[in-house]
Amino acid sequence: MKVLLTGASGQLGQALIASKPSGVQLISTSRSGGQHLEALDLADPDACQRAVHAHRPDWVLNAGAYTAVDKAESEPALAQAVNAGAPRAFAQALAACCPGGRLLQLSTDFVFNGGQGRPYQTDERPDPLGVYGATKASGEQAVCELLGTGVDGHAAILRTSWVYGPMGRNFLLTMLRLHQLKAEAKEPLRVVADQVGCPTATSGLAKTCWAVITQQASGVFHWSDAGAATWFDFAVAIGAQAAARGLIATAAEVKPIRTVDYPTPATRPAYSLLDCTATQERLGVTSRHWQSMLDEVLGELNA
Ligand SMILES: NC(=O)c1ccc[n+]([C@@H]2O[C@H](COP(=O)([O-])OP(=O)(O)OC[C@H]3O[C@@H](n4cnc5c(N)ncnc54)[C@H](OP(=O)(O)O)[C@@H]3O)[C@@H](O)[C@H]2O)c1
Repeated sequence: MKVLLTGASGQLGQALIASKPSGVQLISTSRSGGQHLEALDLADPDACQRAVHAHRPDWVLNAGAYTAVDKAESEPALAQAVNAGAPRAFAQALAACCPGGRLLQLSTDFVFNGGQGRPYQTDERPDPLGVYGATKASGEQAVCELLGTGVDGHAAILRTSWVYGPMGRNFLLTMLRLHQLKAEAKEPLRVVADQVGCPTATSGLAKTCWAVITQQASGVFHWSDAGAATWFDFAVAIGAQAAARGLIATAAEVKPIRTVDYPTPATRPAYSLLDCTATQERLGVTSRHWQSMLDEVLGELNA
């Protein structure tokens, strides 16, 4: 099976490459290309279409995205091109030249407004609060319309949340640095404690992506690690578990703050837990608690 991967230099892209199942021929792309990577600019819809026509993949695994949530507020056209234009172009090209060709589109809990106070089911209506969520929702919609997510459809949309891993730009690596700095300066680390979601390690997310592909699944899927957390809970756990493993000398004191006390350009959902039960049943995958996954990722950093 031939899979065209985008975002290969990103944190999920790297985990997907590391966990590629046998029998998959992977064509990995990134914005500028490089060793073992083809160049593909997701902001260029013609280039996206050309890549599909050239490779005629069985699947496009679109892990690449404009993920800078706050910056997207001031670059909406670029965010829209990458997050909605690219999946649309892939879907159009697959429909035109690859009979049976399928698309796995990664998406986000930020397509929801976070106002309902209970976990989101896959069939609940997106209502994004910011540009990033809006562009990802627009990408979902294009893929659904062009390829279909029903039983006979050729599209899978996999929404996930709070992604982190041992490499890339993510909350874990930022917090490890800040714990060290703040502990040395004997200052507290202030972290938002009124947004609820769930951290998701790239390793488990990558496995779920491969389960979608190897099972030729279509539909809308939700995947995160198990449990619930605030960013404050996550920061406290990172400090405690990293100190216990000797990755940092001491954890800084973490103080809870409110979202209103830490204004950001983009509004974030207050409660964006994803209900992953249906995905687990359908794909036969199980999620582990986020604290256990955190321990595993810290173990990789320790190695
Ligand atoms: N990170 C999260 O917390 C989170 C949460 C929910 C859902 N998701 C979704 O999960 C997927 C994977 O995210 P991630 O965490 O792995 O993101 P990431 O580490 O930020 O990686 C994103 C990748 O997309 C690439 N990219 C951005 N603009 C591009 C362009 N114009 N042309 C080609 N490549 C471009 C980036 O390349 P450069 O390095 O060159 O920019 C990078 O390789 C995305 O669809 C994201 O929306 C992420």
